[in-house]
Amino acid sequence: MYSIAIDGPAGAGKSTIAKAIAERIGFIYVDTGAMYRAIALYFLRKGIDGHDRERIAAECPNIHVSLAYDDEGRQQVILNGENVTGYIRKEEVGKMASVTSAVPEVREALLDLQRDMAKTSDVLMDGRDIGTNVLPDASLKIYLTASSEVRARRRYDELKEKGMDCDLAVIKEDIIARDKQDMEREIAPLCKAEDAVLIDSSDLSVPEVIDTVIAEFNKVK
Ligand code: DC
Repeated sequence: MYSIAIDGPAGAGKSTIAKAIAERIGFIYVDTGAMYRAIALYFLRKGIDGHDRERIAAECPNIHVSLAYDDEGRQQVILNGENVTGYIRKEEVGKMASVTSAVPEVREALLDLQRDMAKTSDVLMDGRDIGTNVLPDASLKIYLTASSEVRARRRYDELKEKGMDCDLAVIKEDIIARDKQDMEREIAPLCKAEDAVLIDSSDLSVPEVIDTVIAEFNKVK
């Protein structure tokens, strides 16, 4: 089995790149952020304060997240039997996921599921702690980043394209706050694994990043 781990901060383009590569090389794409988002959605729906760590930990045994794939191979996230894929992309869910993913019981609830997927299939998994924690023996580890300016600009363009009203400075502040939260938490913080290949996509196009990752994979397979 081969596994590719792609980690990096919010907005670095991980999922766009990961989806395209997985499709090209026939691997299953596992978006672990979506799993943390599903759990965050559970807490938001229940009106639970993301900072109430005791309450969050106590609820974990009631939360079951699993993944399924539709006919086109797109990942679907199932939360306690409900397909919540359409509800997890909102900004508030991402922010809540960044807070609640710092609770050890939340991470434990997902760890085995993530590792098991890599035991049975060739996977390309993206997230924050894949190379450092989930798959320390991954065939290839990539740390994909870009400057906060570039990440904010990309997000701004994406929202504008959808006709949404937004403010570049606010988006940049949110990105910096999320980086800080994900990098400074005690358990499995976002950081580059020592043996990960660093790719800064600030001045690279999507096809250039894809080609770089595939070239790295060809070296190890
Ligand atoms: O990649 P994303 O925006 O969908 O992730 C949402 C949050 O989930 C992110 O801010 C931190 C958390 N996360 C994590 O802690 N570990 C992962 N492997 C993936 C995501």
